[in-house]
Amino acid sequence: MLKDTLYNSVQAAIEAIQHHLPAPPRVAIVLGSGLGFLADRVIHNRIVIDYDQIPGFEPPTVEGHAGRLVYGDLEGVPVLIYQGRFHYYEGHDLATVTLPARVAAALGVKLMILTAATGGIATGLAQGDLCCISDHINMIGANPLRGRHDERLGKRFPDMTEVYSQPWRHLAFQAAAMLNLPLKNAIYAAMPGPSYETPAEVRMLRALGADVVGMSTVPEAIVARASGMDVLAFAMVTNAAAGLADDPNMEITHDDVLEVAKHSGQRLGDLIVKLLNSHFIPK
Ligand code: HPA
Repeated sequence: MLKDTLYNSVQAAIEAIQHHLPAPPRVAIVLGSGLGFLADRVIHNRIVIDYDQIPGFEPPTVEGHAGRLVYGDLEGVPVLIYQGRFHYYEGHDLATVTLPARVAAALGVKLMILTAATGGIATGLAQGDLCCISDHINMIGANPLRGRHDERLGKRFPDMTEVYSQPWRHLAFQAAAMLNLPLKNAIYAAMPGPSYETPAEVRMLRALGADVVGMSTVPEAIVARASGMDVLAFAMVTNAAAGLADDPNMEITHDDVLEVAKHSGQRLGDLIVKLLNSHFIPK
């Protein structure tokens, strides 16, 4: 995607979406690998738009990502669910990876909820654990805001002191407590992928202060924050990061990642529903 057409790309995408929606969405949710089934929770006023109907949205190339936009009411809140995301490792540039975040902002969304399957690095993290991301380390080697600046899309040098909204994180922990659901804080390291990390890379990430590692989330979080939305992100630990499993011969596979995400993902769905139900702050 050409940088100087970014604003036009956002406009073209929202034109394809907006006329389908009875009311502006207030929350957008990006579903990570294996978590797509959470879109089934939207039943009321449900509208489904396939990504191939939206200019600039590419068909997903990874198993576990459906490639459609689901709009509807979740606990009475109009939400926009991205069932499938674009990854840097698929060969997309970061403008494409972050187009859904820009589109959400342009549609008036105030809160962007990102979800991701991750490898656990911090001691004490186990398969199936759910984490609320408190901060990130961008190891992708690129920033989605690089390029010619367009004032209409946000600041040139946005502050990133609090990418993940402290008030919303607090509310997430409250919602988790109401559900009796263990939720941990985690710092997310984003790697470019698509190979999983080596054990030496995992030791490096741990030394840098990362608790979980994944191949997504951070570009979208940067753009969402720079676009003025509040950001909340949840990491599902689907496996021990490379070299950290009890069994030294344990291989990390995408199939296992999808399986664990599917199995443990219901709790994440419950948490998001509870969060919207108990704490949604009216405009
Ligand atoms: N590393 C990177 N990304 C991942 C992992 C991992 O171990 N598990 C799920 N996504």
